Amino acid sequence: MSVLNNKLAAFMVLSATMGGFSCQAFAEDDQKLLNMCIACHGVDGSNDFASIPNLKGQNVQYMVGQLKNFKTDKRQDKTMSKVAKLLTEEQMQAMAVYFNTGKEQD
Ligand code: HEC
Repeated sequence: MSVLNNKLAAFMVLSATMGGFSCQAFAEDDQKLLNMCIACHGVDGSNDFASIPNLKGQNVQYMVGQLKNFKTDKRQDKTMSKVAKLLTEEQMQAMAVYFNTGKEQD
């Protein structure tokens, strides 16, 4: 039993380190949130979905402003309204910078 548990634990650690990509500049919770954004908007903010806007290179202040609008329901979208409510202003800023540059920050 303990052998099995150890294997399971090792597998989970391995998949946690290998799954997604890691970024020093983001705390673990932020990274999870960012991975969610990336799933839709693309790893560098550009994506092939017709219904999802590209964020790569987008103005930081604009993106923070839109996220705040989603959070306060000034702008409504069934996904983004929910997503933005999970974010603090600092996280909005960090993510906007991430997508503005289109790559991970060091
Ligand atoms: C399930 C897919 C999905 C996820 C997850 C998601 N988005 Fe979005 N996002 C969208 C869609 C769709 C829109 C366009 C909404 C609309 O039409 O108003 C959008 C719009 C935006 C906009 C406004 C873009 C513009 O051109 O006005 C920003 C900024 C944004 N998302 C940032 C984020 C961030 C940051 C995260 C992660 C915290 C995130 N999104 C997670 C689908 C997603």
